[in-house]
Amino acid sequence: MVNQKGGVGKTTSTINLGAALAEAGRKVLLVDFDPQGALSAGLGTNPHELDVTVYNVLMDRKVSIQDAIQHTAIENIDLLPANIDLSAAEVQLVNEVAREQVLDRALRKVSDDYDVILIDCQPSLGLLTVNALTAAHGVIIPLICEFFALRAVALLVETIEKVQDRLNPRLQIDGVLATMYDARTLHSREVIARLVEAFGDKVFETVIKRTIKFADATVAAEPITSYAANHSGADAYRSLAKELISRGGAP
Ligand SMILES: Nc1ncnc2c1ncn2[C@@H]1O[C@H](COP(=O)(O)OP(=O)(O)OP(=O)(O)O)[C@@H](O)[C@H]1O
Ligand SMILES: [Mg+2]
Repeated sequence: MVNQKGGVGKTTSTINLGAALAEAGRKVLLVDFDPQGALSAGLGTNPHELDVTVYNVLMDRKVSIQDAIQHTAIENIDLLPANIDLSAAEVQLVNEVAREQVLDRALRKVSDDYDVILIDCQPSLGLLTVNALTAAHGVIIPLICEFFALRAVALLVETIEKVQDRLNPRLQIDGVLATMYDARTLHSREVIARLVEAFGDKVFETVIKRTIKFADATVAAEPITSYAANHSGADAYRSLAKELISRGGAP
């Protein structure tokens, strides 16, 4: 889940797409790859109280990824948590051998244990995000339905292409996800039209509407699929999960 723009729905989409995939019977690992730890907090973990996080897995070869992974209250969802420690990794990794492949090497050890692994990136295109792109088969780009948001995408696509070229030839864009859509405004509809112009059928048919229910669910530290199981926002992520499966983005 990548977009270097902040507040576009990466973390919300990681939790809720993950929960929808778990509901569909998939075994899911969610990776918090943002020092803010919003994904960990959103799943009921207090990131400040953690001794072993993804940071230790990256930086200390003696720490195994299994030591850091936690079960969550949601069936079929495990979490590799993060906290502020991760902010040091960006600098410390610069001196590592094969510094772009550190996350990939760690995730390989558990990739057979899960059907799907979703990585929630921080809002930047730095070395941590490049690690995520190197480890991934596919990228989902959440995009807020506002015109200024479209501008950030060119740089993101350029970064994805560079990683494809130099580090991870199998990498593809699984889809572009329009978030915070407001059907009442012409503006939102125009942004979707522009997105389809630019990305064609890469744009998911599922569109995530703007609703306060997502923030409410975060406060309750639950995915919307359980917090408000019948809400249209929960159905939207279920339909996104179906689309992703049918596109081959999740087995
Ligand atoms: N569809 C939506 N409708 C309304 N609010 C939303 C929606 N999706 C997310 N939000 C809210 O918008 C805020 C930002 O969402 P989120 O944290 O998922 O974005 P992000 O891209 O992960 O941000 P960051 O770049 O800071 O990590 C949160 O308060 C979240 O509850
Ligand atoms: Mg986030």
